[in-house]
Amino acid sequence: MSSEAVDYNGQVEAVREAFKQKFERFAPFSSPNINENINEAAQLADPETELREITNLRPILMGKKSALSDLKKLIGRIPTEERSAFGQIVQQLEAEIVSKFEAAEWFLKNYVARQRIERERVDVTLPGRRPRRGHLHPVTILRQRIEDIFVSMGYAVEDGPEVETDFYNFTALNIPELHPARSPQDTFYTTDGLSLRSQTSTVQIHAMQRRRPPLRVIAPGRVFRRDTPDATHNPMFFQLEGLLVDRGITMAHLKGTLSEFVRRMFGEGTRTRFRPSYFPFTEPSMEADYSCFKCNGSGCRLCKGSGWIELGGSGMVHPNVLRAVEVDPEEFSGFAFGLGIDRMCGLMYELDDIRLLFENDVRFLEQF
Ligand code: FA5
Repeated sequence: MSSEAVDYNGQVEAVREAFKQKFERFAPFSSPNINENINEAAQLADPETELREITNLRPILMGKKSALSDLKKLIGRIPTEERSAFGQIVQQLEAEIVSKFEAAEWFLKNYVARQRIERERVDVTLPGRRPRRGHLHPVTILRQRIEDIFVSMGYAVEDGPEVETDFYNFTALNIPELHPARSPQDTFYTTDGLSLRSQTSTVQIHAMQRRRPPLRVIAPGRVFRRDTPDATHNPMFFQLEGLLVDRGITMAHLKGTLSEFVRRMFGEGTRTRFRPSYFPFTEPSMEADYSCFKCNGSGCRLCKGSGWIELGGSGMVHPNVLRAVEVDPEEFSGFAFGLGIDRMCGLMYELDDIRLLFENDVRFLEQF
């Protein structure tokens, strides 16, 4: 071999050495034994960075401007008698570099892809997380039952505002200026002249203005009173108002309606009784009671031994109320009633205290 050929060999060795150094970091992943590669890769803190770096190395080691490429260009320039031998060793070196490089790159690519799949894998055999289903509040359940009964009797469901003007809260309901119902001790005032409604009777006025008699409506809703909370009182509670106005309506219609309601609500044998009472917006007025659904009237803890449970207030619509909405009391008459839903709910579910209904304790609410 000529001295020049020794120089060429030296250049080949220099390129091999440079490759070794640059590739040193990736050499552990180019073994033909895949398990060895996996063991090595398991030591890596960040295999994705490793993959990025080896990809960046490809043009440096094998690209057009690489030392290997320079060697290949040299083949054509050396004396003919040495060209073949030199060409062979350059080719051998190239094969070595390419195979090592590609083995390591291929391995890292697959390793990173498998890791990604592992990371993102969804285990379809794990038990699902079942969302907790909510349900209706006991007051809502009861309200809907009452509504169903009245709707089946031909009543429409009305709605009204919870913040009311003096007219709807008091004047139109025949509550004169000095009546105690207007007292700040009895009612929550918001701004001048506005107050939170203390009864759903305010909807009687809205309903008559909106629909004009003859009409049949019920109006369930939230009401507010300055009552001190105790086992049977809340400052916010629900009532359900009933109003029927037509020609020739008498007390018999009112008694018949409430009697039919309690029979459908509490059972066929339920009886009613009516006691005289007073409300400014009805004349005459009465309190309606029904025979206790638990003891059937013989007296028990629920009805406090009396055999009767209070249903609510009722009466014939006062002529002044009809006049307030420009309905002629000579032509039309009607009856109205108002039930307290929360107390009824408390009795039906035998709650010792109706405050439980609005404490929002899930352990209590989920029992219904
Ligand atoms: C009224 O509110 C009248 N508007 C009822 C009425 C309507 C009479 C139509 C005539 C014609 P009273 O103030 O009695 O009436 O209340 C009716 C019901 O509301 C009571 O029977 C009771 O069940 C319930 N109630 C009253 N105050 C509270 C309170 N603080 N907490 C819970 N429920 C209450």
